Amino acid sequence: MPELLSDRTAVVTGAASGIGREIAHTYARHGASVVVADVQEAPREEGTPTHEWIADETGADTRFVECDVTDRADLEASVDAADEFGGLDVMVNNAGIVGPVAPIQEIDREEYDRLRSINLDGVYFGCQVAADRLLERGEGGSIINMSSAAGMVGYPNISPYNVAKGGVRLLTYGLAAELGPHGVRVNAIHPGVIETEMTRSDFPIVGTEEGEETMETIPLRRFGTPEDVASVATFLASDLASYVTAESIVVDGGQLNTA
Ligand code: NAI
Repeated sequence: MPELLSDRTAVVTGAASGIGREIAHTYARHGASVVVADVQEAPREEGTPTHEWIADETGADTRFVECDVTDRADLEASVDAADEFGGLDVMVNNAGIVGPVAPIQEIDREEYDRLRSINLDGVYFGCQVAADRLLERGEGGSIINMSSAAGMVGYPNISPYNVAKGGVRLLTYGLAAELGPHGVRVNAIHPGVIETEMTRSDFPIVGTEEGEETMETIPLRRFGTPEDVASVATFLASDLASYVTAESIVVDGGQLNTA
């Protein structure tokens, strides 16, 4: 396999589980050093902690940093940890939760604030600490923000999630304009339904009757895997995407753009 990311160091938030875990794994397989930043070390699904798994499998330089993305100091510590491996090149702001699923009248301020502080502010300050470090290093870089199909169109009963993911999309475009002159590319990924604990238990779609119906609306007739998203995140981090910035890549088996 060609190594698309040799000599790169990446920080991936929310990398203990699901999509972030597979991004960390794929980056390591492509030769990157990886800082796994998460509130918890153990994956939500079964398995050994991400940094142990990828070190065993790929021999990559990797470590875990306990990081709550709502805390800017934790984000800074995660980026500092990349210095052990030569310094930050790629920042993936992936950590996120589903948050409240209810009509807007039933969502209280506390639930709204919590969702926003993880899914939007966490990405915002992740971009801030990354920009600070990338500009200081002066070697360009790539920032990848995890949005959602819900950052492109509206869905009922997840208004805080819609707000955050839509915000991530426009934050991405604004920062691409701001950081492009410094050689830093900023892009967003918008997954559809991907099989993780999020869609198995927090917002159950995978394995449900509703999920079977949803699958009929997906041209490729399957839900996505973390690997499907990790491939796109690898492309965006690599030189293959050297002229790609301010872009939103939808990874949803064709659902959003088809009738
Ligand atoms: P997941 O629940 O499998 O993994 C999320 C990870 O983020 C967990 O390891 C969790 O500990 C971590 N996390 C949660 N709060 C955190 C915090 N405050 N600070 C640091 N880490 C924190 O979820 P999944 O599916 O892997 O989602 C990853 C991202 O992809 C999220 O931003 C999600 O909104 C987005 N996404 C997922 C889709 C799906 O169908 N699974 C669809 C569209 C977007």
